[in-house]
Amino acid sequence: MTHQIELSGVNKYYGAYHALRDIDLKIRKGSFVALVGPSGCGKSTLLRSLAGLESISAGDLIIAGEKMNGVPPRKRDLAMVFQSYALYPHMTVEENLTYSLRIRGVKKAEAKKAAEEVAATTGLSNLLHRYPRELSGGQRQRVAMSRAIIRHPKAFLFDEPLSNLDAALRVHMRKEIRSLHDRLGATSVYVTHDQIEAMTMADHVVVMRQGVIEQQGPPLELYDRPVNKFVAGFIGSPAMNFIPAKAGADGRSLVFELGNPQVVTLDRPLPTASKLIVGLRPEHLRLVEEADAQIRLPVGVVESTGSMTYITSATTPEINVVVTDRQPLRSGEMMSLGFDPADLHLFDADSERRIDIAG
Ligand SMILES: Nc1ncnc2c1ncn2[C@@H]1O[C@H](COP(=O)(O)OP(=O)(O)O)[C@@H](O)[C@H]1O
Ligand SMILES: [Mg+2]
Repeated sequence: MTHQIELSGVNKYYGAYHALRDIDLKIRKGSFVALVGPSGCGKSTLLRSLAGLESISAGDLIIAGEKMNGVPPRKRDLAMVFQSYALYPHMTVEENLTYSLRIRGVKKAEAKKAAEEVAATTGLSNLLHRYPRELSGGQRQRVAMSRAIIRHPKAFLFDEPLSNLDAALRVHMRKEIRSLHDRLGATSVYVTHDQIEAMTMADHVVVMRQGVIEQQGPPLELYDRPVNKFVAGFIGSPAMNFIPAKAGADGRSLVFELGNPQVVTLDRPLPTASKLIVGLRPEHLRLVEEADAQIRLPVGVVESTGSMTYITSATTPEINVVVTDRQPLRSGEMMSLGFDPADLHLFDADSERRIDIAG
């Protein structure tokens, strides 16, 4: 049995509101799973259902081989890691760490030893006698994590733990949480609305929308083969370009509807569905000589960060291009774009589902 947590057919209603719909999810022991999706899609509801803070309306929840549907939170042996401000302000770091052990009757000396061990793992050994107000944001976050670690839970549950930190610290804490997870051999479920956080931290990413799991899998599988337009647009930054299109008369080319129609020859058999959407990631478009152009578009805005140049076309829809070299392009002039046909994604315009094209 390698699955630490298994959900099958899980549904959750808040009154008439259907917040989780037929959730099937298996979480392997030792894995780092990210639940990601826009605000209100049900991420926290799913995490709180695991923790037992919400009851599920239908389906089964199994933790370490045992059915947990009606089991109260404290008996599930899972640790929620909240944002750093959930520390007790009138307690020292050590008291914050030992609190949960002390209320369960662990002796003072034993609890102190446990706190010292955890503090050594999380780099807090010199800070045990400080109060939370005397710590930096990153140190407070480590205390919040340590407080969970000290209980040796079956899994760690994180609900947007970094959302109160500034951008630089978030990037740092992202690595720190992941490396702690690896060192502890922990199982972690991490909720975030930030797809970069999900992609960089997790081994398994679960993309949710309106209470439904749209797709789950390894991060790069979601990037390479999104099952629908929603996942395609949600994973990746800047977001994938979507271009209305139809199959050309020869069945081997696409007509892009970008202001005036542009015929792109792919030289591979294409579906004959009348309404298609082409997906092309900004980083898969490149600037080419006019003779090699697959599409030609007027330049709208050109922005450079030094390392990257971001170009937006003056078309409807707008097309975004990202290149790593500097470009002397000016607004209003024409740019010639090329791409590898293997990087092109195709969706049915009505169902928004992925259409696979033979290579
Ligand atoms: N206690 C509740 N009662 C009624 N509706 C709720 C409750 N908690 C959450 N919801 C609704 O369920 C949906 C999912 O919420 P939530 O899981 O918090 O989303 P997320 O964490 O993905 O932003 C939202 O539409 C929210 O308004
Ligand atoms: Mg939430």
